[in-house]
Amino acid sequence: MIQLVRGFKDILPDEIGAWNRIEKTTADLLASFGFSEIRLPILEKTELFRRSIGEMTDIVEKEMYTFPGSRDEMLTLRPEATASVARAYIQQRLYAVDPIQKLYTIGPMFRKERPQKGRYRQFYQINAEVFGIESPLVDAQLIVMLWSLFKRLEIFNLSVHINSLGCPACRPEFKNLLSGNLSSRGELLCADCQRRREKNPLRVLDCKVPSCQDAIAGAPVMSDFLCQACARHFDSVKRALNQQEIPYIINHRLVRGLDYYCRTAFEIQTTQLGTQNAVAGGGRYDGLVEALGGPSMPAVGFAVGIDRLVDILLQRGPQPGSVPDVFIAPLGDEAIRRSFEWSCALSLADIKTEADFSGKSLKALMKRADRVGADFVLIAGDQELQNGSVVVRNMKTKEQTSVPIDKIARQIKELITKKIRNPEASSQKSE
Ligand code: HAM
Repeated sequence: MIQLVRGFKDILPDEIGAWNRIEKTTADLLASFGFSEIRLPILEKTELFRRSIGEMTDIVEKEMYTFPGSRDEMLTLRPEATASVARAYIQQRLYAVDPIQKLYTIGPMFRKERPQKGRYRQFYQINAEVFGIESPLVDAQLIVMLWSLFKRLEIFNLSVHINSLGCPACRPEFKNLLSGNLSSRGELLCADCQRRREKNPLRVLDCKVPSCQDAIAGAPVMSDFLCQACARHFDSVKRALNQQEIPYIINHRLVRGLDYYCRTAFEIQTTQLGTQNAVAGGGRYDGLVEALGGPSMPAVGFAVGIDRLVDILLQRGPQPGSVPDVFIAPLGDEAIRRSFEWSCALSLADIKTEADFSGKSLKALMKRADRVGADFVLIAGDQELQNGSVVVRNMKTKEQTSVPIDKIARQIKELITKKIRNPEASSQKSE
């Protein structure tokens, strides 16, 4: 049997309810904050990610699915979406229509990381990106949005980590200082960090190797070296979060795994997953649009890891997707013929309908109705057809109602509406 590729997964029907809930809740929330959806290809030129995410990041160094395309071009399955959204913003000249664009996109990303619980090689993100606004209030607003998204999804036990990574005016001095500081403890650094220390010392702050953690224990922190403008920006973000009563932790070690960030960086972490505890991350990337050949344009955004949210929701039990409102159980050839007609009419009347045309016994049909989780079962045999009515059984209360054949759709709709209004109420006899 041919198996799934390692690190990839199937999303099965009993999980899809959680996926739909997350995607729908996010889309509604983002719309009320003024975001529009954008859909982009999952394949881009490798150069886009090299230039955006940075040559010396784990993603670009080790994790991209890259292969030759046509001519001399290398192509990559997108490891993240920010670079693609920025590319589209520039290429489609969205900035010329209105420099301020609030865009979101939902879809799969690909990273060749070591698979484990909460870490997949194909995973799904919701990305929200704001272009054209320099105000720190937008940075705070994105965090407020995330906070309310998790509240709406009833996901608690979260902490918001924030940091400022400075800007091209103040970061170089900090980098030099950090690099010098780390050189005094160079022997503690892992092989990757020995290399990173000179060219990209911020990456060392991100390294999870225990000896590197020891090496950075006494290292200087960026917030002590922010220029005035960056310090003011960070203060405003904090003030706005206080005003919205969002609790946050200032995490001096938070540098994020992508090089395009400046100023605000943030991550939302949970205690409900194992080591893969980040459910969302983001920050400001004011230099990226220009670096990719567009106009000088501030930008800020985040990505939510859908798979991890699903894992949290599923800890509470299965989140079923669509279950039928009604299951049609016909007994005998004539009833099967009529049930085809009824199932089409019910489905076309927006009633979720499942019919079994197999000619099985009533016992077997009821067993299947139970298994698919139908709320009502429509039972019809020769006797019922002769009487011009069918039996509708409420699977929860076990009550049965006789329904005239010419009123099936209307009466089933009424029963379903009654059940929605009062789920515990028994079905009542009508007409
Ligand atoms: P990121 O921190 O790399 O940021 O990913 C964001 C979220 O995606 C993570 O917090 C996590 O929930 C989820 N995630 C990442 N890798 C995996 C994986 N291998 N398996 C499952 N979930 C994963 C970015 O991607 C930036 N583009 C975010 C951003 C948008 N910054 C500005 N705008």
